[in-house]
Amino acid sequence: MLELPTRHVHLWCLTMDCSPFDLAFWASLLCADERVRADRLRHQRDRRFFIWYRGNVRRILASYCGSAPQALRFRTGRFGKPELADPFDMHQLRFSISHSGNRLAIAIVRASEVGVDIEQIRPMPDLPDLVDSVFSGREQSLFRSLEESSRLPTFFSVWAQKEAYLKARGLGLNRPPRDIDVGLFPVEGAGLIRDGWDSSATKQWSLMAWPPVQSYATALAVEGQHWRIDHMAEDSLPL
Ligand SMILES: CC(C)(COP(=O)(O)OP(=O)(O)OC[C@H]1O[C@@H](n2cnc3c(N)ncnc32)[C@H](O)[C@@H]1OP(=O)(O)O)[C@@H](O)C(=O)NCCC(=O)NCCS
Repeated sequence: MLELPTRHVHLWCLTMDCSPFDLAFWASLLCADERVRADRLRHQRDRRFFIWYRGNVRRILASYCGSAPQALRFRTGRFGKPELADPFDMHQLRFSISHSGNRLAIAIVRASEVGVDIEQIRPMPDLPDLVDSVFSGREQSLFRSLEESSRLPTFFSVWAQKEAYLKARGLGLNRPPRDIDVGLFPVEGAGLIRDGWDSSATKQWSLMAWPPVQSYATALAVEGQHWRIDHMAEDSLPL
C-alpha cells in the first residue's frame, strides 16, 4: 500500500502508451457506468484514451486504499468534483484529475482540497476573444505587452492555474475565470493574486505552475501553505 504523509502532494503525470492487450487490462478495471461512457465515445482514439486514463486513476487510487481498482466507488460534489465514496473515504484522501492530449495528471493529498490541470499547448484561433472573456483586467493588459512567441504558453499556464484552483474548490467553471487573478507564468511567478469572490483566498491557497514540458502547461492548487510536492513515477506503484 502506498503511504501519503500529511503535507505531501503526490503528483502523477502519465503519458498514454497502450497496446490492444494493455487496453483489455485497463477496461477490466472499469465499472459498468465507465464502460457505458466509453462505448458512447464515437472516435476510437477517444475511447482508448478514456479507458486508459480511467483505468490508471483506479489503479493509482486503489494503491493508497489497499483495495482492488475495480472495487473503488466514487461520488460527486455539487458541481461534479469526484471523491471516494464510503467505505474508501475513511482514508481521507482527496484527489483531482486532468487529461489533455495523451497525458493524465492526478494529484492526491490527505485531508485538504486539491485541484490539478494539464493543458496541451495548441493553436487557438480565437485567442484574443478567449483572453477577453477569461482573463482579469490586470492579466489582459500584461498579456498584451508580451511578445507574440510567448503568448500561447502563457495563455495555457494562466488557464491551467485558474482551472486547477476552481477544481480544487469543487466549482469547475461555475465561477467566472476572469474574477480570479493569477501570475502570468512564466513571465512572472505563478500564484493566486486575487479571488474576487473570496478576499482571504490568497492566504489560504497555494497555486503553482510548471514550465511547459513537451508542449503541456500544468498547474496545481492546494488548500493551505507549505506543501511538499512528490513527483511520482509509475514504478512506485505496488505490483
Ligand atoms: C471541471 C472542468 C473545469 C474540467 O475541465 P477540463 O479542462 O475540460 O477537463 P480536465 O481534464 O482538466 O478535468 C476533468 C476532470 O475534472 C473533474 N471534475 C469535474 N467536475 C469537477 C468540479 N466541479 N470540480 C473539480 N473537478 C471536477 C473530473 O474528475 C473530470 O474527469 P472526467 O473527465 O474523467 O470526468 C469543467 O467544468 C469545464 O467546464 N471545463 C471547460 C473547459 C474549457 O472551457 N476549456 C477551455 C480552455 S481554453
